[in-house]
Amino acid sequence: TSVAIICGGPSAEHEVSLRSALNIAKAIDASLFTIIIIAINKTGQWFHVENINQLEICAQKGEIGTDFNQVSMLPQGPGSPLLNLVTQHPLTIDVFFPILHGPFGEDGAIQGLAKFCHIPCVGPGILGSSIGMDKDVFKMILRQNNIPVSPSITVHKHNLINFDVSEIKHLGLPVYVKPCNMGSSVGVSKVKTIDELNAALVNAFQYDQKVLIEQQVIGRELEIAILGNNDIQTSTIGEVLPQTDFYSYESKYLDQTSQTQIPAKLNEKQIALIKEIAVRTYQSCQLSGLTRVDVFLTDDDQIIVNEVNTLPGFTNISMYPQLWEHAGLSPRNLMSKLIELAFE
Ligand code: DAL
Ligand code: MG
Repeated sequence: TSVAIICGGPSAEHEVSLRSALNIAKAIDASLFTIIIIAINKTGQWFHVENINQLEICAQKGEIGTDFNQVSMLPQGPGSPLLNLVTQHPLTIDVFFPILHGPFGEDGAIQGLAKFCHIPCVGPGILGSSIGMDKDVFKMILRQNNIPVSPSITVHKHNLINFDVSEIKHLGLPVYVKPCNMGSSVGVSKVKTIDELNAALVNAFQYDQKVLIEQQVIGRELEIAILGNNDIQTSTIGEVLPQTDFYSYESKYLDQTSQTQIPAKLNEKQIALIKEIAVRTYQSCQLSGLTRVDVFLTDDDQIIVNEVNTLPGFTNISMYPQLWEHAGLSPRNLMSKLIELAFE
């Protein structure tokens, strides 16, 4: 079986994607699968990366350079580089393993291309990916299914002129301002005074046409990994212990000040409730393959769902593979299982 890992991409999570892809490429059982590494640079050009060592260089540099790497540009074509890849790559591709975080990779775009090529794809399909990527639509679906989410308001760029700051009064302060379609906390600000709101909106609108202003939830930040299509498995639950003001991009990937704890210290009842809500979230959003569900646990034992990550990080600090490892599923077996699920 040949597996094409697709990584990089034009989203702001490009560097994170390369680090995730490296760990995935290392974890896939080479005695069972042939790995083909496809990397997309920040401007959207597609490359074939010769081998894992070359991918390691890309991951270290945070980019796909033609000067320092043995990479060859793939036929770009006006329509679909993926179609060109499928028709012109000397090896047959049996399954895609997209590990593109954020827009283009986690939002249904690459999943649509794969479907168009009749090639199975690891992870959720078009609809589930789109729902999971758009924090505004995601919250609508959860509210519809009576799954608790934090109160929020959505601001559209085209309607920004009509936005009245007093609208956030009912949310209280602080609030979180987030681009609706982004990950790894890119473009996210914690706003503590009204004066800071404008700069936070400007920052978030750099990344998206739609921005969410969310009420702060006071509670513990917990994460759980889900695996499966119809038969859904849940992992051990982990906890994020941010040492900074919030679990920002910097604290995740740059200074790595945030700590995680696996397993989180929880009682049986809390564990059962988190698992139940995570599975309902997964099903409500029509997800399949894999997803990480991030929730808050409040002092009075309420679960509030924060978000889902339909192609969660697989970097050295990322929770998804660690949660499974703790639950007894090694990275190698996890990869085989994910690939198997793509064919179901
Ligand atoms: N969006 C990043 C990759 C994560 O959730 O792990
Ligand atoms: Mg995310």
